[in-house]
Amino acid sequence: MDVTWTRSHILDLADWTAAEYDIVLQTACSFRDVLAGRTKKVPALQGQVVTNLFFEPSTRTRSSFELAAKRLSADVMNFAPGSSSLTKGETILDTAKTYLAMGADIMVIRHQQAGVPQFIASEMDRLDVGVKVLNAGDGQHEHPSQALLDLYTIATLLDYEKPCVEHLKGKKIAIVGDILHSRVARSNIWSLTAAGADVHLAGPPTLLPTLFSGMKGANQTGSLTLHWELEPALVNADFVMALRLQKERMTAHLLPSLREYHQRYGITRDRLKSCKAEVKVLHPGPVNRGVEISSDLMDDPQFSLIQQQVTSGVAIRMALLYLIGTSEDP
Ligand code: NCD
Repeated sequence: MDVTWTRSHILDLADWTAAEYDIVLQTACSFRDVLAGRTKKVPALQGQVVTNLFFEPSTRTRSSFELAAKRLSADVMNFAPGSSSLTKGETILDTAKTYLAMGADIMVIRHQQAGVPQFIASEMDRLDVGVKVLNAGDGQHEHPSQALLDLYTIATLLDYEKPCVEHLKGKKIAIVGDILHSRVARSNIWSLTAAGADVHLAGPPTLLPTLFSGMKGANQTGSLTLHWELEPALVNADFVMALRLQKERMTAHLLPSLREYHQRYGITRDRLKSCKAEVKVLHPGPVNRGVEISSDLMDDPQFSLIQQQVTSGVAIRMALLYLIGTSEDP
């Protein structure tokens, strides 16, 4: 590959190029082979310290980053706000500086407020300490590693040996549900349209405001279409991504009831009949079973990629930690 990796932080995907996505996909692919091997570990980040600063609840993302860092032989420190000095009034920046003083090399940050990873990254750059920052989900803004593992899951399904963005060109991908509150949707819009896919967003008007039609990426080669009804988004779709209703981020009554939501926008086997015959369903998790997606469909390996997404997460996060962990400071 003639493109080299230049980013020292991964904060958002808005300006990523197809070539950068391909570097991540190829790197993840080589780690997939490591994970399938006998020792499952490489010494790539030996001696480096990865700090998981999760200010918001998480099951799969935090565990996935932890395992990925351990598979790269890094030392991992986990932070949980409930049992930390945050409860004594310490600021987020002081928390980050405490980990810096212990020798953190990479900070993986999740926060309920958009912009926190960017803020810590700018401070680390200002201090000139060479610490790399990876956004593990900030408010309603972005969740780059989730979109990258979604991209990898789709690309490996299309070509297991050589997953690359080219395979997504012209694929119809429906993203359904609570788009408004979803950082996963935002990151996926950047990555999938940069990969040349035709992305169809569907959800109730209260959860899919028209401002989303203005999300035009600098490197977008695919299209972006909005629907307030589910059916047109599903017709001939190759992939359907259901999103969780983010009740914790809803400040107003945006839905009549969960039952009615499921009736109008829930993904079921019956609804998938208008999609391509080999359609696959994704969901970033955690799932509200029987709301965004019917329980039987979620567990049906013919359609559901949900478990593959979790598995892909480890290889993708190894790739991201490796790429920023070994990148030279600009
Ligand atoms: C997502 C998140 O936290 O943004 N989950 C995840 O990281 N797997 C989606 C969600 O919470 O619905």
